[in-house]
Amino acid sequence: MELHCDIASVRAATSADRFAGREIAFVPTMGALHAGHLTLIRRAREIASRVVVSIYVNPLQFGPKEDFSRYPRDLERDLLLSKETGATDVFAPDTTELMSAGLDITVNPGPQGKTLCGRSRPGHFGGVLTIVAKLFNLVQPTVAVFGWKDAQQLILIRKMVQDLSFPVRVEGVETVRESDGLAMSSRNAYLSAKERSEAPWIHRALASARDCAVAGGEGRATRLSRHAIEQIHANTGARIDYVNVVALDNLRQLKTVEPGNTMIAAAAYFGATRLIDNVRF
Ligand code: PAF
Repeated sequence: MELHCDIASVRAATSADRFAGREIAFVPTMGALHAGHLTLIRRAREIASRVVVSIYVNPLQFGPKEDFSRYPRDLERDLLLSKETGATDVFAPDTTELMSAGLDITVNPGPQGKTLCGRSRPGHFGGVLTIVAKLFNLVQPTVAVFGWKDAQQLILIRKMVQDLSFPVRVEGVETVRESDGLAMSSRNAYLSAKERSEAPWIHRALASARDCAVAGGEGRATRLSRHAIEQIHANTGARIDYVNVVALDNLRQLKTVEPGNTMIAAAAYFGATRLIDNVRF
């Protein structure tokens, strides 16, 4: 496995595959790799023999009061895990390398960036899409792999690729969970023991709301979100940011569930740590 810290080097590493018309799979990350990321790398490896993982804690997607400076960073460990899991290349640029020309032109996520997490994290998805667009142009993958845990991110990246005609396929991989149901996230490392024990309730509550719809026949979106909110309140000290029932195809708020096109998504603060999760049906 090769480590590339500069743009010329990562471009050179992929050029032979590109000219030969071979698949180049790409897994963009912010490092602090966990089992969820490793599943993305494994999936990428199934698709392509060239697998590029990027590791870059993107300052553009953190708000002024968010955890950019304390976000976990451990490049040595990430390199080891990437190599063991089958990555052929890691691209780990610093901000000077990536932003040397400045950054006046950015991607606007449009209306789908304003719902769910976009409400409480203004600028977040613009920051994500701008860096992902830049990374796509640098790595020029044929396929990019993202996790469903960040469903809104995945949906927005698909929309960007479609609207701006990027020549890349975007693949979503199912959320990897701890044995108690908590979605894997680099931010789980921030949780205290008590918060960690309560955190699985975000998934239990969403899954229970889904069961009310699928097995119980409850179609009213407000009933389902109220049910999930009650479960979280009854079992945790978390502060709920949102629980919303939206359409998977364009994230519009649903009044009534649409089988096959429904997502119940939630964000909640366990102490200072904001966790997100979703179920789709
Ligand atoms: O999901 C992430 O880790 C980040 O949002 C991403 C896609 C790597 C962009 O910085």
